[in-house]
Amino acid sequence: MEQIFALFTIFLAFAFSGRCSDDFSRYDFPDGFVFGAGTSAYQWEGAATEDGRKPSVWDTLCHSRNQGNGDMTCDGYHKYKEDVKLMVDTNLDAFRFSISWSRLIPSKILQEPHLRISNACKLTTGNEPYVTLYHYDHPQYLEDEYGGWLNRLMIKDFTAYADVCFREFGNHVKFWTTINEANVFSIGGYTDGLTPPGRCSIPGRNCLSGNSSTEQYIVGHNLLLAHASSSRIYKQKYKDMQGGFVGLSLYFLGLIPSTSSKDDYIATQRAKSFYTGWMLGPLIYGHYPDTMKRIVGSRLIRFHRSHTLSCGFCHKHQIQTFSVREPKFLLRHGLTKLFCICLNKYAVAPWAMEVVLEYIKQSYGNPPVYILENGLSLFSNLSLLILSESAHQFSCQCEQIGIPMKQDSQLKQKDTPRVEYLHAYIGGVLKSVRNGSDTRGYFVWSFVDLYEIFGGYEVGFGLYSVNFSDPHLKRSPKLSAHWYSDFLNGKTAFLGSQGIAELQSNLSLNSY
Ligand SMILES: *[C@@H]1O[C@H](CO)[C@@H](O)[C@H](O)[C@H]1NC(C)=O
Ligand SMILES: *[C@@H]1O[C@H](CO)[C@@H](O)[C@H](O)[C@H]1NC(C)=O
Ligand SMILES: *[C@@H]1O[C@H](CO)[C@@H](O)[C@H](O)[C@H]1NC(C)=O
Ligand SMILES: *[C@@H]1O[C@H](CO)[C@@H](O)[C@H](O)[C@H]1NC(C)=O
Ligand SMILES: *[C@@H]1O[C@H](CO)[C@@H](O)[C@H](O)[C@H]1NC(C)=O
Repeated sequence: MEQIFALFTIFLAFAFSGRCSDDFSRYDFPDGFVFGAGTSAYQWEGAATEDGRKPSVWDTLCHSRNQGNGDMTCDGYHKYKEDVKLMVDTNLDAFRFSISWSRLIPSKILQEPHLRISNACKLTTGNEPYVTLYHYDHPQYLEDEYGGWLNRLMIKDFTAYADVCFREFGNHVKFWTTINEANVFSIGGYTDGLTPPGRCSIPGRNCLSGNSSTEQYIVGHNLLLAHASSSRIYKQKYKDMQGGFVGLSLYFLGLIPSTSSKDDYIATQRAKSFYTGWMLGPLIYGHYPDTMKRIVGSRLIRFHRSHTLSCGFCHKHQIQTFSVREPKFLLRHGLTKLFCICLNKYAVAPWAMEVVLEYIKQSYGNPPVYILENGLSLFSNLSLLILSESAHQFSCQCEQIGIPMKQDSQLKQKDTPRVEYLHAYIGGVLKSVRNGSDTRGYFVWSFVDLYEIFGGYEVGFGLYSVNFSDPHLKRSPKLSAHWYSDFLNGKTAFLGSQGIAELQSNLSLNSY
């Protein structure tokens, strides 16, 4: 362990290249910078059939594929008071969660305004709620009735749902996210078919229907319009009274060219356009990137002048690191293979954070950014969850860059790799902020171990573990919860090997 830790510090020293000390505290961030942690409704609530809740497309996908489900998960629906207390104890400034659309509006008729949601919003006062309206889970009846996001009717229904949420909960919520990870939701749900609603036309992927070459673009377009339309409603009806903000969340990859060749550089630019420029372009400049228009052609729908989009504030998500190469092969499953990305099997690469924040700053006029999800998934034996190459549409075999994460077997609670990860990435954010990025918040994914879309209950991102065999689903802080809590309390973040040992010994004294 000693040896691997030494490797890690060397890497940090390299990553920060001496200009920014590893030794920082939250007070090095600008005033008002928000630190929090998050969950989402399907992954946290459970109580899948209680109080009239009806299935969402996420329930349907899990049940049809027999890959675990969120029927019960960590029972946040009943345990939210306990969890909110833990958040307060952890010194979080903010808590991010999502509202379950199929719970609030299980059929065409609105349920009683949801007391629990309302309560959860109120309880988190002093621990600001950041609420997501849509986290992969639209009601199944809308999918059955007209095809969900493939149909423009969804824009109207989503806006009506958003309107209800703003009206009912807006007095307690200042930060709204309309759609979670709009870009990878479209890719995962409609091209790869691996995430809800699980549509694709890739042979061998187990999708019942779909069209991997067209649907992603239709859905992406409708998501952008739904975001625009609900933001407009907020501005017209609620903004003056409630004074909040509405943003869209996107998933970013830390993309860098695999080699210094011109081809790899161009492939990297193209990959950025296809992943995030796809949504940031319309939001900030009112049109899709030229590269995409050229390659996707008529499958990409054009915006009319009447479609005013606005970012409000942008959200950035879960960052994985990838390097990009010019593809060696084209056209697979009718899908153009436009670039080839290599999943770096090295979780600690805070430069990915800096690369992304720098890209948003330079290419999109430095909008306000909140990092809504950043975290590390570990098996209970602390091995890393590596998404298989096949889980990714654009992956291919290529060399890795970075420094391997250490893997050792300790108790689940002693998640040293996660502490190192959070320390490194928060340090990366600080570096970007110091270089002018308008990043205003950072949320660890996730607050407690949840049902995960990849890995189910085998893996956890949580600061707190949940004993899923215990009828009370007991929560216990991991080392990372203690570390984050100390950090939020103002302690300096740097943990030499001595600090880690001390934290561990404090932890065992506390008999968790
Ligand atoms: C997908 O849609 C395109 C355009 O309508 C069509 O040409 C293609 O055959 C469809 N592919 C599948 C698998 O249905
Ligand atoms: C850790 O657990 C996972 C899931 O049970 C397993 O696939 C992996 O091989 C284990 N790793 C080690 C090093 O034991
Ligand atoms: C810092 O910001 C400047 C100005 O935007 C930019 O030119 C430079 O590349 C940035 N440095 C890093 C390390 O990203
Ligand atoms: C989880 O809960 C079960 C049932 O209460 C208990 O037997 C087990 O020891 C617990 N596991 C841990 C790691 O605390
Ligand atoms: C361990 O506990 C002691 C006594 O409460 C405290 O002073 C120290 O800062 C703790 N160490 C860490 C790394 O949290």
